Amino acid sequence: MPPSKGSPRVAGGPGPPEPREQVALEDLAGVGATTADKLRESGYTDLMELAVASPGDVAEAAEIGVAIAQKIIGEARRRADVGGFESGAAVLERRKHLGRITTNAKSLDELLGGGVETQAITEFSGEFGTGKTQLGHQIAVDVQLPVAQGGLGGEVVYIDTESTFRPERIVDMARGLGIEPEATLEKIHVARAFNSNHQMLLVQKAQELARERPVRLLVVDSLTSHFRSEYVGRAELAPRQQLLNRHLHELLRFADTYNASIVVTNQVSARPDILFGDPTRPIGGNIVAHAATYRVYLRKSKPPKRIARLIDSPNLPEGEAVFSLTPEGIRE
Ligand code: GTP
Ligand code: MG
Repeated sequence: MPPSKGSPRVAGGPGPPEPREQVALEDLAGVGATTADKLRESGYTDLMELAVASPGDVAEAAEIGVAIAQKIIGEARRRADVGGFESGAAVLERRKHLGRITTNAKSLDELLGGGVETQAITEFSGEFGTGKTQLGHQIAVDVQLPVAQGGLGGEVVYIDTESTFRPERIVDMARGLGIEPEATLEKIHVARAFNSNHQMLLVQKAQELARERPVRLLVVDSLTSHFRSEYVGRAELAPRQQLLNRHLHELLRFADTYNASIVVTNQVSARPDILFGDPTRPIGGNIVAHAATYRVYLRKSKPPKRIARLIDSPNLPEGEAVFSLTPEGIRE
């Protein structure tokens, strides 16, 4: 077992993770080029994903027999860095290095227990125009601030699925905080995701980037738009949820490995079964509910105000916060 497993992450950046044996899918007995391609097309891009897959799913994905799939999974399990148990003390040690990023609005920070947490996924959901994208931009600026000012002195990966990333807005927000706009933009690594597969691939690319740069925030705006438009109808719901689940777990793994915050935005869909109260809910249902540590539901109030409500958080009381969308960005 590698001696450095569970080694503490430092607040300023964990440094690159220890190198591990690079095993390609093709290196597994019984996996030729064709099978490897089919597996990758179905989303099994590394050993870990195969190691935790079911033989039936792998057989179907690669169009091979279940017995062969079982053998492939067995070898993937032996050779993948599956991780394992760590002591409670190691978990505590890791959590000591939890960082927090300010949202620039005190009440929203307080709602989140002190800001957007690292080693966790924070979801901002709400209807169009509720400020999800603005929050993504603002936190991408704030994470660059020094720790004493509510940042982590870190850089950002920004996965933009709706072409709504606006560098001009970053410039406004940087000026609003009195920091250098050009330097701020340099530290935001933006990629436009063309479809859900590309979106998932970009998380792997982000890992490569994070080995070289001190990335402490990964924004996905929006988490669900591609999944929603590509997988339509009841029959598609199960595969969609399965892929979304894998995507979220890759994001969580990124958060843990680099002591980074994951911020995702999510649209809401109409809920025809509700007669009283709010007739909408975030897309992705239980899958997102289980993976996201903090779920913040946004709604409009008297302009420029927005109301944020924390929903089903494991360790924080439910509550609401009010913030404003100003020309300089998010404000109390
Ligand atoms: P969808 O992505 O459509 O679901 O909406 P969203 O929740 O991402 O909304 P977004 O964050 O784009 O917020 C839109 C609101 O932010 C607008 O209604 C404006 O009030 C405000 N806003 C957006 N861009 C600017 C800007 O450049 N300047 C200012 N002052 N306000 C802006
Ligand atoms: Mg948006």
